[in-house]
Amino acid sequence: MTDYNSKATIQRKVAANLLKYIVEAARHLPSLPPGQCVRILENACSHGVNSVDFALAVCQAVSDRDTSAPISFTFNDLPDNDFDGVLALISSSAVADFNPTLHTLGKSMYSPLMEPGAVDLVYSNASLHWIGSLSVFAEEGPSQPKVANQAQEDFAAYVSSRHQELRQGGKLVVSFPGVPDGESGMNSCYPDAFKRVHDIAAERGAASLAWMQKYCNSPNYSRNRSEVASAFSDADWTVDLMELQDIEEFGASEYQEGRITLDDIATRTADMLSSIYHNTFTSMWVEYGGLEKDQAEELMKVYREALQQALKEPKTLRVYHLWVIVATKK
Ligand SMILES: C[S@@+](CC[C@H](N)C(=O)[O-])C[C@H]1O[C@@H](n2cnc3c(N)ncnc32)[C@H](O)[C@@H]1O
Repeated sequence: MTDYNSKATIQRKVAANLLKYIVEAARHLPSLPPGQCVRILENACSHGVNSVDFALAVCQAVSDRDTSAPISFTFNDLPDNDFDGVLALISSSAVADFNPTLHTLGKSMYSPLMEPGAVDLVYSNASLHWIGSLSVFAEEGPSQPKVANQAQEDFAAYVSSRHQELRQGGKLVVSFPGVPDGESGMNSCYPDAFKRVHDIAAERGAASLAWMQKYCNSPNYSRNRSEVASAFSDADWTVDLMELQDIEEFGASEYQEGRITLDDIATRTADMLSSIYHNTFTSMWVEYGGLEKDQAEELMKVYREALQQALKEPKTLRVYHLWVIVATKK
């Protein structure tokens, strides 16, 4: 994931939407004995572009209730994440004024991460649509039943692991792309764009159409209501909010005021997607698709151009569907 922080346009917008729910949850955590640390876990923090705003808002909400309460943050993502970058961002921000303890944890969020009862608040922005197993995703290609199964398993594992780790009354706040009933699956955020990318790259001779259709899908799965709700019905949760919200494209208001064009938005979105998929795609293409590393990097350039072209074709503003879920451990 190269230069993620400057490219994460839509994630910034989605995070701004999530912030108020995180603040509300932090304000309503059950009280702790004097001196006990308020323990915060952020899953899939990436390079930290949104972590600072989240952490600062949490520190303010906690200290509004008890100025002496110590706070600890654990920033989690996959092991190859740039955690040094995250810590540097946090440490050079106003979060440092609250003197929190900072930890990092490079491990899949679809597995147990902390001791039982060791977390007061957990949140994650724009991450729970990521598929937990690259091999299932690479094997499956465009058909999908195994990916759908994997996506269900991932989400169930996430919800039950976080349930174990939260203390009673602790809160979970997450937001990720979703879909209305009947539309779940891969590539759901950009359904037509990916089909066009396959065609364009194949027309340019970068790879065969069948190869593109198999190895060049979004490594994400967008869930509908029943897929989301079933994970929370198994465990002992109070679901405070489970809402599929509509979020306008990043830059929608600038476009409406005539300051940028739809093509500018398409270019930004293509940059964002090629930044977040860079490592996943190139490693999958080498491991499963039979390419050498330099061939994978070359194909990535074609992919980015094809994505830009594909995203420029529909002359409308996109609307994203986004799950916002707030739940309390009973
Ligand atoms: C689109 S980014 C969102 C990052 C960040 N939360 C934000 O708001 O900008 C998705 C992140 O999910 C992480 N991710 C994907 N699968 C994961 C997993 N199984 N466990 C932990 N993190 C994961 C990726 O490494 C990436 O950093």
